[in-house]
Amino acid sequence: MSDLRSSAWFDGDDEVALAHRVAVRMGGGTIERGERRPVIAIIDTSSDANPCNLPLRDLAEDVRRGVVEAGGTAMVMPAMSLGEDLMKPSAMLYRNLLSIEVEELLRANPIDGVVLLTNCDKTTPGALMGAISADLPTIQIVGGNRPAPIFDGREIGTGTELWRELNRYRSGEIDAGEWRRFEDCYACGLGSCNTAGTASSMAMVVEALGFTLPGASTVQSGDSESHRISYETGMRVVAMVDEKLTPSRLLSMGSFRNAARILQSVGGSTNGVIHLAAIAGRAGFEFAPSAVAAAGHSIPVIADVQPCGSMLMRDLDRAGGVPALVFELGDLIESEPGSCTGRSFADSARAPLADNERTRVVRAISDPVVDGPAIRAVSGSLAPGSAVLKAAASSPALWRHRGPALVFHSYEEMRRRTQDPELDVTADHVLVLTGCGPVGVPGMPEWGMIPIPLKLLEEGVTDMVRISDARMSGTSFGTVFLHVSPEGAVGGPISLVRDGDMIAVDVEAGTLDLEVVAEELDRRRLEWSPPQTQHLRGWPLLYQRHVEQADRGADLDFLTAPTPAHRERVEPVVGRS
Ligand code: FES
Repeated sequence: MSDLRSSAWFDGDDEVALAHRVAVRMGGGTIERGERRPVIAIIDTSSDANPCNLPLRDLAEDVRRGVVEAGGTAMVMPAMSLGEDLMKPSAMLYRNLLSIEVEELLRANPIDGVVLLTNCDKTTPGALMGAISADLPTIQIVGGNRPAPIFDGREIGTGTELWRELNRYRSGEIDAGEWRRFEDCYACGLGSCNTAGTASSMAMVVEALGFTLPGASTVQSGDSESHRISYETGMRVVAMVDEKLTPSRLLSMGSFRNAARILQSVGGSTNGVIHLAAIAGRAGFEFAPSAVAAAGHSIPVIADVQPCGSMLMRDLDRAGGVPALVFELGDLIESEPGSCTGRSFADSARAPLADNERTRVVRAISDPVVDGPAIRAVSGSLAPGSAVLKAAASSPALWRHRGPALVFHSYEEMRRRTQDPELDVTADHVLVLTGCGPVGVPGMPEWGMIPIPLKLLEEGVTDMVRISDARMSGTSFGTVFLHVSPEGAVGGPISLVRDGDMIAVDVEAGTLDLEVVAEELDRRRLEWSPPQTQHLRGWPLLYQRHVEQADRGADLDFLTAPTPAHRERVEPVVGRS
């Protein structure tokens, strides 16, 4: 194989090239003098602190076998693991840091191609963003979704069922003993959330962008299929190096439109909207929330998977996964965008498998699970940038609503006051949480599914309009307008809302308005001052200074690739002194 990036390290007879070759040999690889053997990085984000990513530990060696079999040499490189459950204030604060780590690992080392091993929500977009910025041939493997526990005879979907049980516990429908029994049952094994939450949504988005082998994004953790996929991925990435199939050659605007269509067809996570914007930004494209909504305009939810449907990711996988969705979407998937296979993504279409006849988890477009697009974008005087709604998991009766605001300025205030039985609130109120966007907190935590106030929960209210500059879990539901931009912490209109202000939403019209006269808003704006940051050093300080708003993907302003020139591959500088 000629023209390898790693040759800059290994070619030659001097002491520097010698030391480089020896270092590879000491690490278990092989680069002989004069040999052109592609070096493949296997970026491993497994960690004991992240059970979602632990299945990846078993896959790295399968990838290595594939790489070696295809004539390459492999280096397993650990990278930070972003576990959604344990990292505070939010794993999202560290997505961009993982992307920097991946990009710099690839830039600094003699790497020709990369396999990304990821799973939990932020690891998948974060690692891919870094690899796109490095612009080396890239394939991604996910660790798979976890098995479903059985609770009182029913299968438990991660997240979705937790929020339902929580509401039952808060309203007194179940007691502390039942709540405890649920906890014991909920610890059900390794892998990602088994619903179409953010992790599975992003895995499918990555497949649609062309960065996994066909069908690889929905596999179950521990399934022998994941070993085959890993081995074949290792083989394929070596060929990609020969074909110079880099992300900049793979990606086009059509790739992002296809990814948005797959996201919409599974009723996927609203977090996918932010990550798509950020991934696109690394490749030099703009893909705003309105573009996700527009691409998915005629795509109903055709995968009957929680939280919009009733089944689990395992069922979607058995029915054929993403290739079956591509088959059903037919001409709605653009045929030009490529994939890591060297063929177009649309070529991966495959009729749903026999299991689908029993489960009907993959539906025809004419017989959808939910009619209309899953994710909608709105904008208006309350959200001049945009806000998004998981329409497919909300209440259509609330899509056109006008009500008085009840504002919370922090997570603690929101938790405390929604539990207050004396809270002055009705079901017509619009609950607002501000100060929790990318700069606020910082890191835009998943606090946007504001709890229904206890008083209303006890009256039987199950949904109401809620608005926030935060995110919410991909497994959540409700009429919740998220990612309001600009956010409160930078002085967006959401920071100016006062209790009792009238707010009007109209999902069909795409509007979200604060009905306060301009003079009054100007007066409030003069009184407003930015919240004091508690972060005076380190990563949070850097993040707060440079993070962009949600509608631009919440990437750091110096990491995006605004011009094609930024995407040109930077040749390594290998010291010879
Ligand atoms: Fe890690 Fe859901 S918490 S995948």
